[in-house]
Amino acid sequence: MNSSANQTNTIQFLLNGEKVSVSNPNPTQSVLYYLRENKKLMGTKEGCAEGDCGACTVVIGELVDDNPELKTVNACIQFLPTLNGKALFTVENLRQEDGSLHPVQQSMVNHNGSQCGFCTPGFIMSLWNVYNQYQISSHDNNSKPDQAEIRSALTGNLCRCTGYRPILEAAQKMFDLPTVEFDTETLRQNLAEIQRDDILAYDDKDNKFFAPKNIHQLTELKAQYPKATILAGGTDVGLWVNKQFRDLNPIIYIGEVAELKEIKVNDDKLRIGAGASLSNAYKAVSQYYPEMDEMWERFASRPIRNVGTLGGNVANGSPIGDSMPALISLGAEVVLRNSKGSRTMLLEDLYLDYMKKDILPDEVVEAIDLPLPIPERVFRCYKLSKRYDSDISAVFAAFSIVLKNDIVESFLMTYGGMAATPKRATFSEQSVIGQQWNETTVKNAMQIMKQDYAPMSDGRASDANRMQSATNLLYRFYLETRSENPLSNESLNVFVNKSSVNDISVRVED
Ligand SMILES: Cc1cc2nc3c(=O)[nH]c(=O)nc-3n(C[C@H](O)[C@H](O)[C@H](O)COP(=O)(O)OP(=O)(O)OC[C@H]3O[C@@H](n4cnc5c(N)ncnc54)[C@H](O)[C@@H]3O)c2cc1C
Ligand code: FES
Ligand code: FES
Repeated sequence: MNSSANQTNTIQFLLNGEKVSVSNPNPTQSVLYYLRENKKLMGTKEGCAEGDCGACTVVIGELVDDNPELKTVNACIQFLPTLNGKALFTVENLRQEDGSLHPVQQSMVNHNGSQCGFCTPGFIMSLWNVYNQYQISSHDNNSKPDQAEIRSALTGNLCRCTGYRPILEAAQKMFDLPTVEFDTETLRQNLAEIQRDDILAYDDKDNKFFAPKNIHQLTELKAQYPKATILAGGTDVGLWVNKQFRDLNPIIYIGEVAELKEIKVNDDKLRIGAGASLSNAYKAVSQYYPEMDEMWERFASRPIRNVGTLGGNVANGSPIGDSMPALISLGAEVVLRNSKGSRTMLLEDLYLDYMKKDILPDEVVEAIDLPLPIPERVFRCYKLSKRYDSDISAVFAAFSIVLKNDIVESFLMTYGGMAATPKRATFSEQSVIGQQWNETTVKNAMQIMKQDYAPMSDGRASDANRMQSATNLLYRFYLETRSENPLSNESLNVFVNKSSVNDISVRVED
């Protein structure tokens, strides 16, 4: 690597409070494997090895503006070198000095929250994180997390035998037991001690891993290794290793590039750095587009959103990725950068064909620019999936419309799950522009949509189901936005969100 910065081949992190160093760690070894095989810490379990079940949930602590932040992650798809400079907490950490259980564990015992126990350490770690967050924040407002917050924190944990009621009860009652303090100050000091200016970079033949600290180092490395895999949160890339056994050498990890995590408003755009976590992107976008709240809440699960990035979603460019249809319908742009400079394009132009993108080998995604809302524009997006939480979309639809005296001035509608890429329904859009926003116009556009898409059948939905769902979602958008008697989002949710994909097409039509 052509950089004047000092390099190191050794990662340093805290494991349950103790400092650990590992030299030349295998770049794609999972944190889960490391815990179980190297450290013989068997509390953390492997269920699915793809970020779905939560049996491997652990908590990571890191310094953000000198304050320790805690978040749950899935150890099965987190690569070991990404722990550099962080703190890792596993279920073994909860044992108290006198051998007694932590209140989170005791409450699970008291309320019969565990049967076979396989999922239990994962649930415990998600709840331990809620418990600690509550302690940290309760100094300000003294309020306990409500059911909705607890449910949201547990979206990444599946239990096949106990059932969720006793677990939710245990979660509510854990605060009634004698408090165990979380020592934030000690964590802050210990984390501060392991921060280094050196760049983590090791360059053995089959073992190349780089963690640049700024955008300049990143683009220099990408120029030097154009075939390198960019690793952000690893929530897509982790599965390539665990499920497809792909060789990713060399890897450039962008999680330490400070500029990529920035989120700021420039003129009339919200700029989201490609390395900002989905959770942080959510907080920022939600201030401007609360219409997207449900999409974010249903995007994967809390642990996935904690590490997965918006840049990773956009760069991966899956035809069933959730953020792209919404961003495209709002006219978002993507900023690409290499060592020579940057270029910006409409996000929709990034996608050329199935998993083919207009990104040069030496380029990285630097940011996503989202236009700020304008009062005349009405925006909605809808996700259809078999499960409400933690499921990939069968169909995703996003609409933005500007009406003047009930005539359509501009209309963007973009779908996921309907083509090889996230794609606008341009024929259907055109049929609506300049027309009265009424039943006839919309029913006509629903017919024309057949020229826009020829969706496929797969395990998530059949082609016919996808097409009918897509047209019905346009109709739903119309029902919510028509000038006379618009139906509320909530009343229509009864039909859509709680039903399976298989029910939806019939029920919305009713
Ligand atoms: C259990 C589970 C549930 C999921 N649910 C959803 C869901 O509901 N909706 C959804 O849309 N997705 C979902 N995903 C997919 C995934 O979480 C998202 O696509 C996520 O945004 C990927 O971000 P990441 O940072 O983890 O990317 P990574 O896995 O690190 O990278 C993904 C791809 O993008 C490239 N990349 C990343 N950052 C950059 C960059 N800055 N420049 C250039 N290339 C880059 C990588 O090289 C790779 O090709 C789910 C995944 C899992 C495991
Ligand atoms: S083992 Fe299932 S989420 Fe990690
Ligand atoms: S207790 Fe058996 S899977 Fe949850």
